Amino acid sequence: MCGIMAYLGNQKAAPIILEGLKRLEYRGYDSAGMVMIPDDSLVLFKKKGKVSQLEAAMKDHQPKATIGMGHTRWATHGVPDDINAHPHITHSGRLAIIHNGIVENYSELKTALLKEGYTFKSETDTEVFGNLVDYYMHRDETSLEIAMSKALKKIHGAYAFVMMDRQDPDRLIVAKRQSPIVIGIGDEEFFVASDATPIIQHTNKVIYLEDNEIAVIDRSQGLIIKNYDNRVLSKEVHQLDLKLEELEKGGYEHFMLKEIYNQPQSISDCMRGRVNSDESWIVLGGLKSSLDKILDCRRIVMIGCGTSWHSALIGEYLFEDLARISTEVEYASEFRYRNPVIDSNDVAIVISQSGETIDTLAAAELAKSRGAFVYGVVNVVGSSIARMTDSGSYIHAGPEIGVASTKAFTGQVTLLTLMALMLGRKKGNISQKTYKKLISELEKIPSYVSEVLELTEQIKYIASEIKDCPNALYLGRGYNFPVALEGALKLKEISYIHAEGYPAAEMKHGPIALIDENMPVIVIATNGSDYDKVVNNIQEVKSRKAKIIAIVNRGDHVVKGLADHVIEVPETLDPLTPLVSVIPLQLLSYYVAVMRNCNVDQPRNLAKSVTVE
Ligand code: F6R
Repeated sequence: MCGIMAYLGNQKAAPIILEGLKRLEYRGYDSAGMVMIPDDSLVLFKKKGKVSQLEAAMKDHQPKATIGMGHTRWATHGVPDDINAHPHITHSGRLAIIHNGIVENYSELKTALLKEGYTFKSETDTEVFGNLVDYYMHRDETSLEIAMSKALKKIHGAYAFVMMDRQDPDRLIVAKRQSPIVIGIGDEEFFVASDATPIIQHTNKVIYLEDNEIAVIDRSQGLIIKNYDNRVLSKEVHQLDLKLEELEKGGYEHFMLKEIYNQPQSISDCMRGRVNSDESWIVLGGLKSSLDKILDCRRIVMIGCGTSWHSALIGEYLFEDLARISTEVEYASEFRYRNPVIDSNDVAIVISQSGETIDTLAAAELAKSRGAFVYGVVNVVGSSIARMTDSGSYIHAGPEIGVASTKAFTGQVTLLTLMALMLGRKKGNISQKTYKKLISELEKIPSYVSEVLELTEQIKYIASEIKDCPNALYLGRGYNFPVALEGALKLKEISYIHAEGYPAAEMKHGPIALIDENMPVIVIATNGSDYDKVVNNIQEVKSRKAKIIAIVNRGDHVVKGLADHVIEVPETLDPLTPLVSVIPLQLLSYYVAVMRNCNVDQPRNLAKSVTVE
């Protein structure tokens, strides 16, 4: 949450930073700002709203500075407005700061600084840290870097900070704990950003800053990385493997639509080189090297948040069904604080698109600290979770920019399916014949998804029928229960319609009281997954006059006779069903949101990467 972009080099900083902030806008979009040092003064621009509003405010006023830093905000402390927007200038007027994260003990630090005569313009925790640095710098007559190291030792929380001193226009100082920072190394120029997306158009050489490290970026000395005790560290330079066109909309109206339509490709990419149906094998490099660890474990704990937690639920069904390994699913935010029983007999599988979700990262660290083997299922290459796990597999979905996760979900489910199959076969729980059948069916999933994508016009029509409903209920059983949860999440997060997902049979234990003729009920009733029982549940819903929208397999006549609308999708084997049945739900929520004039790619109050608790 919050996007950071800074530049030091020979080019004009402002356009580079603005372009970078636009790429990072998915991380937060309630206000934006930029500060530069054209001579020995700090020139500051801040604006509530999108980066485009900042850009408009800066038009005709961009200084020629070759050092600067910008920020796009997702508010934590203080409402989104021009004053709380970053950057902040410290009390002395000498330092500027941008921040992603939360300084948890800011209140007590603020009280102490107020006693020292410091004043504050904003309500932010960021300004408090900036003033603490300012305080040490003046009290000890020291450099920004030393003052920052001192101040960092006084704070708790998560952060990525970049600071500048107007008396030293040749230096940027960067510090990090838990919030991500990538530093791009160009030809006598440096780019600092929350992720690699704004860097790739300038250079593919990057360094990932680790926790408790400070980067000093100096025009003449270059990049120096130290720990908080001033010891210089040597760091590996990574080559980015990212294409610029993957970061563009490519003719689609929204990133979300592009990403929904990209799924035949992204699912294939996840399987590429890992599956061979002719020879009936699945090989995941990360899993192969940790096979004994996982096969011998007492149980698996799958951990994630939001959509990734839904993938984990499907993972539980897959791992127990196909591999017969006891599996539990945990919300990362609960797991990390509830003193869970986990030790070296357990394996934690942490699932995250961004690889930066702070709760998932902390949960993974907790599992590791208790001796569990930690396996990552991550999309963003080189992300914090990917770097801290013992082993793992990337889902290779490519950059997901729309805030609502779509192709990452199907990538995660594909990857978990490959893992469950590989483990199940190794354990001898799946016969060679079933294994072969599942593999060859898995390879057909991208074409099934393409077929569902052809149903767009019908789905648009259904969207027009339900777009004004205040509530919606999603039902599914077995493998389709987590899909119901995911469908409901998609609808609520981008169209702001209240939606709930339930195991279809649970409806009778409460939610059925909500059903009347105004309630659309979206039921996943594909073959398998207790089809007959789902049909009974549809009857119960119909008796209460709900509007029924059913996802069925082609040729279904039973549900057709009951539902107001049926969306017919290709039939596949039960464990693979979620990969097909989720697609119409993604499209449905997309079109409802478009028809309600919602900002599909940047829904209110949300951010793509949740790097604060
Ligand atoms: C919903 C969505 C979120 C994320 C969640 C976890 O569409 O995108 O619920 O799934 O914030 O994010 P990652 O997977 O990056 O850890």
